[in-house]
Amino acid sequence: MIPWPTAVIYLADAAIIKEVATFRAKFPKPIYIYKALSAFGGNIVASEGEDWKRYRAISAPAFSERNTRLVWDETIRIMFDLFDNVWGDSPEIVLDHCVDITLPIALFVVGVAGFGRRVTWTSDLTVPPGHQMTFKDALHNASSNLILKMGVPNWAMKLTERTRRVNLAFDELRQYMVEMVDARRSAETKEERHDLFSGLLDAAQDNPDGGVAITEQELVGNMFIFLFAGHETTAHALCFTFALLALYPDEQERLYQQIKEILVDTNGTPTYEDINRFTLSMAVLNESLRMFPPVSSVPKHAAEDTSLTVGNADGGETTFPVPSGTRVRFHVPGLHYNPKYWKDPHTFRPERFLEEWPRNAFLPFSSGARGCLGKRFFETESIAAITVMISRYRVEVKEEPEFLGETFEQRYARITAFDQMVTTTPRRVPLVFKRR
Ligand code: HEM
Repeated sequence: MIPWPTAVIYLADAAIIKEVATFRAKFPKPIYIYKALSAFGGNIVASEGEDWKRYRAISAPAFSERNTRLVWDETIRIMFDLFDNVWGDSPEIVLDHCVDITLPIALFVVGVAGFGRRVTWTSDLTVPPGHQMTFKDALHNASSNLILKMGVPNWAMKLTERTRRVNLAFDELRQYMVEMVDARRSAETKEERHDLFSGLLDAAQDNPDGGVAITEQELVGNMFIFLFAGHETTAHALCFTFALLALYPDEQERLYQQIKEILVDTNGTPTYEDINRFTLSMAVLNESLRMFPPVSSVPKHAAEDTSLTVGNADGGETTFPVPSGTRVRFHVPGLHYNPKYWKDPHTFRPERFLEEWPRNAFLPFSSGARGCLGKRFFETESIAAITVMISRYRVEVKEEPEFLGETFEQRYARITAFDQMVTTTPRRVPLVFKRR
């Protein structure tokens, strides 16, 4: 039965958030609100208790160092493919909305480093025998319609041409995955692969008990969930990052100078070994996540009667009762803009992440045992994408006649406007990318 929450408490205090995130048994995830996500099979995001432990034990090894390296190499390849084969020699590229590139970048990276299939900006046009859609179309259609598929009952999905095509995309993606499982089972020599799907398969097969630790349906369910958890979050975070760099040209110049200096040693192509040298790319990314966290609220609920003690504005403490069933949510922007932890929280200042910074007051990936499993995947992809983009292009806000004469504050508000959907969704980010 779905417990009816008696109240919802939003937390923006670093210490108490850490406590709630740590005591998983006392404050479990209210998985009844994630029920629709299980439409694809049991999975790590929509489970608790023993099931969750099993999914986490099988999923965590897939996010390996070798997978991270694959994410890096493939992101660089996808970016160069964009520059060389789509943007070509054009001195400037005008985008009406930056997600027009960040959504495909995130999709292509998860296609290859997640599902183990390369997709590019221009290829994958022929439908293979036995299929009705290319892998790229199936992945694109399914990822853009995850919410629709979860929210609309199966019978209703059969009613319109559009929803029938969404159903087909899910069936096709499932079939592509089943084929990959079969191909691996029948292969005479085991190919070494480092995508997440292969990682899940390996973990399932190498189960020390010899039994099946994860069913085929759960395998597919967890892959869909990686797509759900990682695609839009990544694309929107990258979009806000380019928006902020366009709004703050001095910060962009500082970033460019660091990148240029490092790339002298690597002939213009950043290597994975150098990832930790791109300290400003990482700082810019963190500052963007602080100001526009893709996941703005993380839900928990009290499993028993308890109490919480939070700091108050006078420097004292307040304790309040939290009855069993109370919904407790981490208010991520509340924490990220809390002046108790962040100086001038409304100012874009990436350098703050190069100094000592309050780690417990930075929560884009949640924390504790239920923290994001794809953090490193995301960071690697984003650092690679930002670094190569800024090494080749200067990013500016697109000038439009109707906004001539606006103040910086008005422009900032317009370019960073968002809607709070499943993720923090940028409304419209018109940018120009000018070849350096
Ligand atoms: C900007 C990018 C990302 C952000 C902001 C983000 C944020 C989060 C947050 C806040 C959670 C906790 C959700 C909750 O408790 O309800 C989470 C969980 C998770 N994320 Fe991410 N995520 C990102 C990228 C990714 C990527 C790229 C992947 C996979 C490829 C991924 C996979 C997961 C998984 C599997 C979980 C569930 C972990 C568990 O419950 O044990 N995430 N993420």
